[in-house]
Amino acid sequence: MSVYELCIDIGSNFTTIYKRGSGIVLREPSLILIDNSIKAMKVDKIGIEAEKINGKNSASQTFVKPVIEGVIKNIDLTKKMVMYFINKVVKYKFIKPTIKIIVSIPTSLTSEQYEDYKTVFYSIGFASIDFVYNCVCASLADLPYFSMGKANLLVNIGAGKTEISSIINNKIISACSLNVGGNLIDKCIAEHLQKTKNYIISTNIACKVKQEIGSLYETDKSNLEIMVQNGDTNSPISAIITAQELIKPIYENYFKILQTIQAFLNQCSPEAAQDIRNDGIVLYGGGSLITGLEKFFKKILQLSVFVVDKPEVLGVIGSEKLFSNYSLLQNVVEEN
Ligand SMILES: Nc1ncnc2c1ncn2[C@@H]1O[C@H](COP(=O)(O)OP(=O)(O)OP(=O)(O)O)[C@@H](O)[C@H]1O
Ligand SMILES: [Mg+2]
Repeated sequence: MSVYELCIDIGSNFTTIYKRGSGIVLREPSLILIDNSIKAMKVDKIGIEAEKINGKNSASQTFVKPVIEGVIKNIDLTKKMVMYFINKVVKYKFIKPTIKIIVSIPTSLTSEQYEDYKTVFYSIGFASIDFVYNCVCASLADLPYFSMGKANLLVNIGAGKTEISSIINNKIISACSLNVGGNLIDKCIAEHLQKTKNYIISTNIACKVKQEIGSLYETDKSNLEIMVQNGDTNSPISAIITAQELIKPIYENYFKILQTIQAFLNQCSPEAAQDIRNDGIVLYGGGSLITGLEKFFKKILQLSVFVVDKPEVLGVIGSEKLFSNYSLLQNVVEEN
């Protein structure tokens, strides 16, 4: 019988699935399109299929994000979404394969929120389920800037939130989180463009502009032409947006993250703080892809800052080691 060993991370914006031996096999929006036209609410589309309709939905169709800031908001819909994604990656003809799963969870969950994860995953019926903190899983990926036996600092800048964790030998020493992430930055960009230019854009467009030309470099000359709604005439016009016009909302939000990292470092023990000063900090999560982040943080924090390769999927990559070393998996689950 075939065995699938999968690690899943349900992010506020994206769900990512890693398969042992194969790598990333799925990364799709954590998004559901609901059809309200009939009496009972019906799940119409999930993931990338739902995303394709975004902005073009009919009045009877609504979008739901079942997980926000890492917290399950709707158990039933989260279960449906997880099953849909798992079925996309698990291929079989007659006999259902055995599925072992590691769930990469946020560090900031309360015990009730953790119970919701258990409810979702235990009700699906996997052969084995283990819950591992996202930052611990990330710390197991082979990072050149990571030293075993020393305290390391990991910062996961996601869509809904940012999580800061210090880790030593796969064990979390301390962690904190703030509700600043890519989604808030998109909202601030849209508000800022309306206030300063009277351009009305959706947060989806703000996100695209941010990803294309968003930057923390004060001298960045990038620009992008997009369609906006002119607030004066209420008609669509073509406008050129420059990186400089976006810098204020981007800077302010990354500065909040930076201040929280500073406060976190100040609360570390002198020994842990020294290790982190020696080795620097590791940034991951999609939000760490903003241009100029390493230099910006480095300049103010006065320590080395590294954005990992493919930062948006690091939270599942370390599961490869856990699948191949059962005692390490047990250790990581028990110790955290
Ligand atoms: N080039 C870029 N510049 C800035 N932000 C980016 C870039 N590329 C992606 N992002 C942001 O990364 C975020 C998605 O990252 P990620 O997949 O780590 O989040 P998530 O896991 O869904 O959310 P969370 O961990 O908060 O629940 C989005 O908000 C997106 O706008
Ligand atoms: Mg995430």
